[in-house]
Amino acid sequence: MRPIAKMLQGELTAEELELVPRSYDIIGSEEKAAIVIEIPKELDNKKKIIAEALMQVNKHVKSVLNKLSGRKGTYRLEQLELIAGEKNTEVLHKEHGYMLKLDPSKVFFSPREATERQRIASLVKPGENVLVMFSGVCPYAIAICKKQPMVNKVYAIEINPDAHKYAQENVRINRLSHKIVLINGDVKEVSSSLKMKFDRIVMPIAVSGDNFLDCAFQLLKDSGMIHFYFTGKGDDIFKDAENIVKSVAKNNKKKIEIENKIKVLPFATRSYKICLDVKAGVG
Ligand SMILES: C[S@@+](CC[C@H](N)C(=O)[O-])C[C@H]1O[C@@H](n2cnc3c(N)ncnc32)[C@H](O)[C@@H]1O
Repeated sequence: MRPIAKMLQGELTAEELELVPRSYDIIGSEEKAAIVIEIPKELDNKKKIIAEALMQVNKHVKSVLNKLSGRKGTYRLEQLELIAGEKNTEVLHKEHGYMLKLDPSKVFFSPREATERQRIASLVKPGENVLVMFSGVCPYAIAICKKQPMVNKVYAIEINPDAHKYAQENVRINRLSHKIVLINGDVKEVSSSLKMKFDRIVMPIAVSGDNFLDCAFQLLKDSGMIHFYFTGKGDDIFKDAENIVKSVAKNNKKKIEIENKIKVLPFATRSYKICLDVKAGVG
């Protein structure tokens, strides 16, 4: 029996216990973490008991946040309600040898993408100039600099001022101010004022990233790599993204080759966050 189910025996019926989510995100460190969970509506009157049991089982968890909506709006935030614990939900999250300070109620952050960040970081070569669009609290740029210390510069653009503030702190905490250039703004507006071209562009947003592919091709060196994220649905989860990339590349007179197709994470019902590694300037 799951430890949480043991704890809740006597408080919830057997049917209710079955509805308690088996998966949730724990964001933070051994000193202080927050749980982000989606408790089903049927357990609304039991959510506080469930949250307190989760804190008992996970002693380092100081707050439990319940998802009231999916990710919405430009900042891609979930509506979260505090159901137990401390009001201050800022945490210091540790992954793969670096630290990220953030408040999940104010910024997008997914600990489930840690493996994807490592995958991207391991592709970066010495001397590259990298652009991370939609950079959030800066996990991709930091992962890249930690894994490939010989990277030349990583530029990171983020529109949410709270995420940008955390990114500034995270670059400082991880001692990467000499490598990472942070820009708070809209990728479209910032792109037109950037005077340089990049070897690699990472586009870690699964919704509406296609609107920014033109910018990416224009900012890419004659030969370079774009990591394009999208939402994959249907029998061939990569087909829509491939068609979009081919069409935008053609409009920009770029020859491309799709080097990798990656299923990153389940995204929503029967859809996935996917990534295409697009090599431009081939042939
Ligand atoms: C899916 S999140 C990814 C954040 C970060 N890369 C990560 O993995 O944690 C997308 C981010 O893009 C930002 N964003 C959305 N539209 C943007 C735009 N037009 N320009 C810059 N940032 C944008 C959002 O605020 C959000 O932080």
